[in-house]
Amino acid sequence: MQTVLVTGGAGYIGSHICVELLEAGYQVVVIDNLCNSCEAPIARIGKITGTAPDFFRMDIRDADALSGVFRRHAIDMVIHLAGLKAVDESLRMPEQYHDNNVRGSITLTEVMAAHNCRNLVFSSSATVYGFSSDDPIPESAPTRPSAPYGENKLAVERHLAGLCETDPRWSAISLRYFNPVGAHPSGRIGEDPEGIPNNLTPFITQVAIGRRESLAVFGDDYPTRDGTCLRDYIHVVDLALGHVAALRKLAGQPGHLIVNLGTGRPYSVLEVHAAFEKAVGKTIPHTIVSRRDGDVAVTFADPSLAKSLFGWQADRDMETMAADAWRWQSQNPDGYADG
Ligand code: NAD
Ligand code: UFG
Repeated sequence: MQTVLVTGGAGYIGSHICVELLEAGYQVVVIDNLCNSCEAPIARIGKITGTAPDFFRMDIRDADALSGVFRRHAIDMVIHLAGLKAVDESLRMPEQYHDNNVRGSITLTEVMAAHNCRNLVFSSSATVYGFSSDDPIPESAPTRPSAPYGENKLAVERHLAGLCETDPRWSAISLRYFNPVGAHPSGRIGEDPEGIPNNLTPFITQVAIGRRESLAVFGDDYPTRDGTCLRDYIHVVDLALGHVAALRKLAGQPGHLIVNLGTGRPYSVLEVHAAFEKAVGKTIPHTIVSRRDGDVAVTFADPSLAKSLFGWQADRDMETMAADAWRWQSQNPDGYADG
């Protein structure tokens, strides 16, 4: 049985990856400093799969603590999700973002190499493309991140490419996620943002549950089919399965790969809103307001490389994304607040 270390495994995407890894027969170890999460998902992963991952509360920048985990467990591969992810915050706190996201990742790879583990899957983001003129966006599209957060992702991708170039024992895959949404169909784990959600779907479910009054739709004057922005929303379970498929590719394949994880099928803000109204079974109040700074009209993936390399593609549609997100929100109105 192979052992996978998941950094940031208590977070939204990481917790779903842990479930799919355990279901696929991997042994899972999680480290997380809980700066944007709590320990509750770890026990809930155990409830879903029958096995809770081994959990260590620690920071990826703490090389000694990390080494301790590698001494205790024979780690075969790492899925690295730990990081700060708020684009706006990264504009206000660029040094902290660099320290956490870039220095943290370098420390992690140093500790891995010291323990003879050189297989890594990294959570990158479609934000690296910035204002891309390609629709759909292939991995070869130019990268022009518009905030430190996206620059951090690119810096880590380059670090991994450099490691693989100089040492053929390294094998790394950077996965550029588009817009992860939804929740595990059990309703036990899901997205639990602190404070006012920045992202569309948690905002919609919080309006539906009565925690917020109305969704503000940021602009309906874009050059799109209904005037609202188009995005490539991908079900978080499909995203998690993409990681399991990527891990299989890692084994015995030296070098660095960059791969989009998306569906290739864009939805508008109003289409997402309508899908959630259907899932919830009632009207979700919304108003149209002015555009949000920095939003691009259309962003969606060319997902063909993931299919040809990993034999993976996203299967779940918007109806499933909305139904699963709503099940999570309605069964956990205050997220993980109740443990
Ligand atoms: P999340 O905040 O729910 O999960 C990240 C986890 O990392 C959190 O549990 C946090 O406590 C932990 N963490 C942060 N810094 C750490 C550190 N120094 N040491 C240890 N743990 C630390 O976010 P998420 O949505 O699950 O995102 C996971 C990864 O995917 C992130 O790297 C993010 O940048 C990337 N990503 C997310 C999205 C998205 O829309 N959610 C899109 C593209 C890429
Ligand atoms: N939107 C609204 N109202 C809201 C929130 C969002 O109308 O309250 C709209 C936005 O204007 C955008 C769409 O919904 O058109 C999606 O917005 P999100 O904030 O959910 O997602 P983004 O595409 O802006 O950004 C996401 C992640 C970023 C990541 C980027 C690219 O949040 O971290 O995808 O991967 F960088």
